Amino acid sequence: MALNDFDLVLFGGGGDLSMRKLIPALYARDRAGDLPPAAKIVCVGRHPWSDAEFVDALNANARLHIGDKAFSQAAWDKFCARIRYVSLDATDATTYQPLIDALRNDAKLTRVFYLAVSPTLFAQICHNLAERGLATDNSRVVLEKPLGRDLESAKQINQEVGRVFKESQIFRIDHYLGKEAVQNLLALRFGNVLFEPLWRREWISDVQITIAEEIGVGNRMGYYETSGALRDMMQNHLLQLLCITAMEPPLSVGADAVRDEKLKVLRSLKPFTPTTLSRNVVRGQYRSGHVEGKPVPAYRQEEGADPDSNTETFVAVKAEIDTWRWAGVPFYLRTGKRMADQLAEIVVRFKSLPHSIFAQSASSFLPNCLVIRLQPDDGLQLNLMAKTPGDGMRLKPVELELDFSETFKTPRMDAYERLLLDVLRGHLTLFMRSDELEAAWEWVEPVLRYWEQEGNEPIPYTSGSWGPAAASALIGRDGLQWREEV
Ligand code: BG6
Repeated sequence: MALNDFDLVLFGGGGDLSMRKLIPALYARDRAGDLPPAAKIVCVGRHPWSDAEFVDALNANARLHIGDKAFSQAAWDKFCARIRYVSLDATDATTYQPLIDALRNDAKLTRVFYLAVSPTLFAQICHNLAERGLATDNSRVVLEKPLGRDLESAKQINQEVGRVFKESQIFRIDHYLGKEAVQNLLALRFGNVLFEPLWRREWISDVQITIAEEIGVGNRMGYYETSGALRDMMQNHLLQLLCITAMEPPLSVGADAVRDEKLKVLRSLKPFTPTTLSRNVVRGQYRSGHVEGKPVPAYRQEEGADPDSNTETFVAVKAEIDTWRWAGVPFYLRTGKRMADQLAEIVVRFKSLPHSIFAQSASSFLPNCLVIRLQPDDGLQLNLMAKTPGDGMRLKPVELELDFSETFKTPRMDAYERLLLDVLRGHLTLFMRSDELEAAWEWVEPVLRYWEQEGNEPIPYTSGSWGPAAASALIGRDGLQWREEV
């Protein structure tokens, strides 16, 4: 579907996210021929750059962020011709005139305001846009995570932004929902009859969702120190993956149909109690160690870190969903930085065989397991038992493997490319609704409060490991192991 003409305004245009993800994603879509010829991109920041100086700043790292293979100088130069830079103070509406001048004065034109800035600025910017008459009926606003620090601040953002934009104009982005494998999970669950009858407590023993990163906090210490893994990854990415895995079949892929079902999952998450807060949540922080054979410093020794910091870089949680479909099925969620591997996956483990007709005992059979891999590459793996060739009847585990980049040779689209196209088309399915956001905060809030009140220190773990031993114990108490630790 061709895009309507648009003006896109990127607040935080000179920032890290814009340079690394947003500009490269827009370039890729431009190169693919998706952007209308007159579409404009206006980057906004405090730094007093001219258009040419800003493009110079982009040029410095463009090839690095886009990648050699996807970079074409001619396509890049053509893309840069769309870019304007406007310097203003986002908190002060009286400085917005250069932005007004940079935009086309056409109320019918799609206008997108992408706020890649601190959430503390969201309300003020929306207010200023309204005050300066920039927020038209055809405007959309994109809010980058983190959407608040807790339930209270998230509610406040929703309320304030909601004074200027209707819910249908608000795109709360969680880039995990734009990942190919997450979309594929929808296709797998609702485009095949095979899985749906088994996708329930009668057949599924447990679900593990892991997002492990090898990278540390890098140059984002300022942000990370006030955030930590629970706010940075668990409240959003991991809970969204849990929702897509656990939700009931939606009526359609329409925005509200899907979001209604995700909301039901969030609202069915069993609330924490004092006992589950201490037993079912593990909080860790990386110490020095080796990642990919190279020595790396402890979190507390990273540049700009507080040497006594208690910010968690790892969190593991056992969650339960109180519904007919899922009662009694544990969902183990974990994420961490400086882990042993860079991977993101959802592991659905089926129940053990009820009885063996073979000489091998039923307990010697590995339970069937479906792995939905999001990273490093996207694919599916189904673990089955099969007969080993030759005489006799010995069964052994085998893997059915589907690598999507092998199966579909078409070029991949980055999550931000897909989500930006959806914003420009006005498709809200892959964006969080206000009630979903609040329900997710409501569930994690007791953990935040518990850590604050108990002064709960993170457990140290060695960089390059799978996190604190307590995370293995968390799942071990239920007689299970994380897939990577089997
Ligand atoms: C971001 C977090 O939302 O997701 C980062 O703020 C994290 O801390 C990143 O590194 C992970 O995203 P991806 O797509 O690289 O797995």
